[in-house]
Amino acid sequence: MGEENPRKDPAGVVMTPSRDRRRDRWPAPDPEALAHAARLVDAIAAEIGAQGGSIGFDRYMELALYAPGLGYYSAGLQKFGATGDFVTAPEISSLYGRCLGGFCAEVLTAVGGGEILELGAGSGRLAAQVLGTLGRLSMLPGRYAILEISAELRARQRDTLEASLPELLPRVVWLEQLPETPWTGIILANEVADALPVRRFALLEAGIFEGCVGWDGSGFVWVEAPAAPELVEFVARVRRDHGLTPPYRSEFRPRVAPWLSALTRPLAKGVLLCIDYGCVGREYYSTERRDGTLLCHYRHRAHADPLVLTGLQDIGAWVDFTAFAGAGCDAGLDLYGFTTQAHFLIDCGLERVLAQARENDPDRYLIQAQEVKRLILPGEMGEHFKAIALGRGLSGALPGFCRTDQRHRL
Ligand SMILES: C[S@@+](CC[C@H](N)C(=O)[O-])C[C@H]1O[C@@H](n2cnc3c(N)ncnc32)[C@H](O)[C@@H]1O
Repeated sequence: MGEENPRKDPAGVVMTPSRDRRRDRWPAPDPEALAHAARLVDAIAAEIGAQGGSIGFDRYMELALYAPGLGYYSAGLQKFGATGDFVTAPEISSLYGRCLGGFCAEVLTAVGGGEILELGAGSGRLAAQVLGTLGRLSMLPGRYAILEISAELRARQRDTLEASLPELLPRVVWLEQLPETPWTGIILANEVADALPVRRFALLEAGIFEGCVGWDGSGFVWVEAPAAPELVEFVARVRRDHGLTPPYRSEFRPRVAPWLSALTRPLAKGVLLCIDYGCVGREYYSTERRDGTLLCHYRHRAHADPLVLTGLQDIGAWVDFTAFAGAGCDAGLDLYGFTTQAHFLIDCGLERVLAQARENDPDRYLIQAQEVKRLILPGEMGEHFKAIALGRGLSGALPGFCRTDQRHRL
């Protein structure tokens, strides 16, 4: 929602072309991908037309990522690894999943055994790393359930597990929907919350507007439309709490509350561990961050324009962990811990895990030490990524949050 070339449409709302429609900024998508994207673009443009000229950014993001058979996550495009769009922590290093495996072992012991549910399991590497670690510790969960929205990734997860841990495959199940009957154990969500759709807002001299998406006949455009009363109320509160001045644009994620509530309602005893990029509310809505936190990935290029490459790129936004924790507590969960990814991994025994890896395979030590740097250095994933644990029925400090618990910052 930049200021470049704004114009008024007949209804009086401000329309701004997407920042950059030049195709030479990115490697050209192949013809098959372009044809796929064109079908999605047509479907979104048709909905915009049917809704009178614009849709909320949250609806655009939902369609771009999840439109059945067409959205980025629902269709069969390659997303991970060198030929994909981005790399996540379990793709960077198997030591990441070994640390999470250690975390799961301790929590499963604390709750007296149970299951693991992983949301959005990507390539399946994290599942393989966690299950491999738990197998070595003779601490396997009753079952390892995966809820994955993408059919292509479900197949890939099965292939990964079949290749690395065929003997454990019978313990893995792919769910079509969230469990509804009471269960005990752990929910893992690594880089999933950032993909939940966000609403955009603009605080301008002229008032408070909702960041919506329109179609100008050749591409998507930002449309700043009059905000509904609940949005005005939310933005007025954020403005007051954080001393914001216009022009200021950002996001918020109202869907996190119903998501957390549905996810954890049947969790009788156990922990939800979310790791994602984000920060506390006062940093999220800081006066320096005047254009929000949108983050898109296409072929390993990160940028902030979600209105291009629709269906071909990942779209995310930072997680406001203050809001996340608040929604969890409103859903009846206890907040067990909050810290940076670096502190979480170190507290889960990263140094010990690295030393063990060195003993097992000295030739790979230097490579693994480099991988660890990417996971924990502040300029890499160490500080932008945070770990938060919410749950019910446990007492005492959780592994990962013993030495550096930053709950007071939320
Ligand atoms: C950025 S990837 C992270 C993958 C994996 N957790 C990792 O760390 O490598 C996001 C994953 O979440 C899945 N996903 C996105 N939204 C989801 C949702 N609402 N429910 C379940 N899975 C979802 C995607 O298909 C993908 O597997």
